[in-house]
Amino acid sequence: MMRRRVDGAAASDSTEGKSGKDKAVKVRARSSWRVWIKWTFLVLCVLYAAPRVIPRLFPAFVQHMVYSHAILWFVDLSRPADLALNHTINMYLSSEEGITLGVWHTVPEHKWKEAQGKDLEWYEKSLGDGSPVFIYLHANMHNRAAPHRIGVANLLSSLGYHAVVMDYRGFGDSTGEPTENGLITDSLYLYHWVKVRSKDSLVIIWGHSIGTLVATNTAVKLQEQGNPADGVMIEGAFTDAINEKYGPPFTWFYLKFPWYFFSAPPKESKRAESNADNLKKMRTPLLILHSEDDQVVPFTMAQELYSTAKSAPNLKEQVKLISFDGSLGYRHNGLYRDPALPGILREFVQSLIS
Ligand SMILES: *[C@@H]1O[C@H](CO)[C@@H](O)[C@H](O)[C@H]1NC(C)=O
Repeated sequence: MMRRRVDGAAASDSTEGKSGKDKAVKVRARSSWRVWIKWTFLVLCVLYAAPRVIPRLFPAFVQHMVYSHAILWFVDLSRPADLALNHTINMYLSSEEGITLGVWHTVPEHKWKEAQGKDLEWYEKSLGDGSPVFIYLHANMHNRAAPHRIGVANLLSSLGYHAVVMDYRGFGDSTGEPTENGLITDSLYLYHWVKVRSKDSLVIIWGHSIGTLVATNTAVKLQEQGNPADGVMIEGAFTDAINEKYGPPFTWFYLKFPWYFFSAPPKESKRAESNADNLKKMRTPLLILHSEDDQVVPFTMAQELYSTAKSAPNLKEQVKLISFDGSLGYRHNGLYRDPALPGILREFVQSLIS
């Protein structure tokens, strides 16, 4: 293509003799090769530098890419009833000065009629009705209205449990910016908020994906405070095999965006502990759920976490791994649909009572 254009340009120069024409062709060809090399070099420089420079210039942008927390889904999060959650209240809690968190509380389904038109006070009081309370810590995309999260709330509610689903700081309509430690602070705050109201009811923390990191860190902190949770569930959890390869756990999520392959997450003075490290310390009964066809977190990670927990001094008999066959097609988000899950949850709750 380039060669032909050079020839054509040279040929159109009618005043040149034959040897002069050849020379012109050579000169033009050489200079176009130089241009080509120059541009290639420039493009390579930009490709090399951009992932390093852009995160420094626009850290907030990268943070948004990682947590995808700012995506708007054209839903009014203050109106859960519009999303088939007619026995759910929307509320705002403040975990820290300047941080407001959007939270949905869905009561057990058998209360749906009674719940119509009720205010926050009624909902708060209902947390102490003796039914188990699940705090659901979601993953790094979207907000509490994502369909699979509504699916989890509906499932828990249909089993007669309370579901409390929070958007961490910076997600959904919550204020602030997400950071590892910020997410854990929010989750600890929510746990204590629930605990004050739930009296003697079981409180179980269910983390999904990046929420598993929040869940296990919360569980260990609660244990250190002498106020352990009753149970922890981790779904689609990852090990720190990811750390060894890429650095701290959250770094891994950056790799989901090839453009940022070489960039580092925002520096935090203190990093969250990994799931594996937390499982070594935890004494809280643990249920691990994982789909064998999980495309985000390989199933082998669940097996590794299971054996870590099994060989930890404290857990042993209190750990269970439930896998979902790859042929079911649940992948990373879909196992809430499994017809066996209600039975698994009931059994887990039962094991915590006895
Ligand atoms: C409200 O939700 C309950 C439980 O999901 C359902 O059975 C009921 O039909 C719903 N009622 C209305 C009016 O939408």
